[in-house]
Amino acid sequence: MPTPEGEHRDGNHFVGMHLVGRRNVQGGYTRISDQDGRELMVTCLTDPLDSIVVDDTRVRHSVTPIEPLNPGQAAVRDVLVLTYDTVVAESAGQIGRSRRRNN
Ligand SMILES: [Fe+2]
Repeated sequence: MPTPEGEHRDGNHFVGMHLVGRRNVQGGYTRISDQDGRELMVTCLTDPLDSIVVDDTRVRHSVTPIEPLNPGQAAVRDVLVLTYDTVVAESAGQIGRSRRRNN
């Protein structure tokens, strides 16, 4: 299944996509594009802990559909997605989430 939302941002500062496992899969290519949809890179996470970390404020991401290599067996692609937000000291003694950059 592709990312249901298609090309998108997650709404955080950074997004880490880390492959947990991939079995009997064809497809599942990760596409990174700029804000205007121009492709910047396409890659495939093939081995456990293969990772991509993107600046979610600057790029969009999506994943192509997967299908089983062997149609008689399940196709599995597990990815751990971790999102990060920058935390800054906004004033003395106060820590908070930084303002999003909108560009
Ligand atoms: Fe996402």
